[in-house]
Amino acid sequence: MHVLILGSGGREHAYAWKLAQSPKISKLFIAPGNAGTSLVGENLPIQVNDFDAIKKAVLEHHIDMVVVGPEDPLVNGIVDYFLSNDDISEVPVIGPGREGAKLEGSKDFAKSFMARHGIPTARYRTFTKAQFTQALDFLNELEPPYVLKADGLAAGKGVLIPETFAHAEMELQAMLMNEKFGAASQKVVIEEFLKGIELSVFVATDGKDYIILPEAKDYKRIGEGDTGLNTGGMGAISPVPFADDAFMQKVKERIVEPTIKGLQHDGIEYRGFIFIGLMNVAGDPYVIEYNVRMGDPETEVVFPRIQSDLMDILQGIANKNIGQVKYHADERAAATVMLVSGGYPEAYEKGKIISVDGEIEDAVVFHAGTALNEDGQEVTNGGRVMAVTAYGSDYKDALKKCYKNAEKINFEGKYYRKDIGFDLDLL
Ligand code: AMP
Ligand code: GLY
Repeated sequence: MHVLILGSGGREHAYAWKLAQSPKISKLFIAPGNAGTSLVGENLPIQVNDFDAIKKAVLEHHIDMVVVGPEDPLVNGIVDYFLSNDDISEVPVIGPGREGAKLEGSKDFAKSFMARHGIPTARYRTFTKAQFTQALDFLNELEPPYVLKADGLAAGKGVLIPETFAHAEMELQAMLMNEKFGAASQKVVIEEFLKGIELSVFVATDGKDYIILPEAKDYKRIGEGDTGLNTGGMGAISPVPFADDAFMQKVKERIVEPTIKGLQHDGIEYRGFIFIGLMNVAGDPYVIEYNVRMGDPETEVVFPRIQSDLMDILQGIANKNIGQVKYHADERAAATVMLVSGGYPEAYEKGKIISVDGEIEDAVVFHAGTALNEDGQEVTNGGRVMAVTAYGSDYKDALKKCYKNAEKINFEGKYYRKDIGFDLDLL
């Protein structure tokens, strides 16, 4: 089979790495990809939201399946686009249609979905500009810190957690009255703050049956001890020590099953992955957010922990028989550490030459922001440059190998967090 992966990050390199191991794949294409994906498949210079160019490539390269890495094309309706174009309508696209993608594309839609289907989440209300006074009244009912969420996609920056009422009022004003996040903050969700520890749960579904993949925990802040600005993610581990069988059973019964049933009940066709951001509040799971794709860098630990052929899972999703797919998780733990460009997540330079001292041992390097320069050398091409993944008997053992290899990779300005997993020791 010919498979096209859309995206260019560490997640997409992990997709390509895992799919390259499948005997069912004869050729992989990645659009636009990075220097790492070019080692396992053919990169196509096409942007993920250029649906007409994607269609052309699908026809030209006889693509049998399209796998969508990031949320943008899903929210923009790539699945609906394929279904409404006769010459590509039979090519399965892994990911939900425009309606299902609202679970990530609209916080208000996601919250009302959870409320409607009895899925545990923080108490909330949604407000528009015209309801500013009511929004302040609701804020007054809550205890600090406050949680304000722009309804739409805001490049991961749309959630604010002000500590004081005065600060919350100011931010609310900026979001609703001055469109701080553009159209995304024309509506704002205000919700109760949940105190606990977060984790990510991944579900592969054909809309009826599902597989719960290995769970993971990611580290989003740039600084050690979870300080400083938010990033796309600085590292991850899997499994998550506190997500024991009893906890995961609650996740399954209270969250995963009602989510799948809710989609069916609402008539939303969903074939793809659901990434559920959860808060463990004193042993009970609450949904913080839905994403309609895999996570990055979580995929860099989740896929290495899947022993089954990923293509079997993707075909199960596409052919609506995921219930028959044989699924095995690897018992080993996995960890990943993200090497980033100096300055990230603010301004940073690109084009720094990447070199390795000696050999990478006992680890897999997934490229994120990398490219090849005119001389064919690997250079930095983004904030998050490379994710170093390793297996171990537990996450600490895996991390030791990640760090040992992270030291061998060089580029000017290289930075990484040396404390991934630190909070698990504090539990
Ligand atoms: P989101 O974009 O919805 O994932 O929110 C970004 C981050 O804000 C989450 O990863 C949490 O750390 C935090 N967050 C969101 N909602 C809440 C909440 N209700 N209570 C506590 N923290 C939250
Ligand atoms: N690591 C968080 C995300 O992929 O959204």
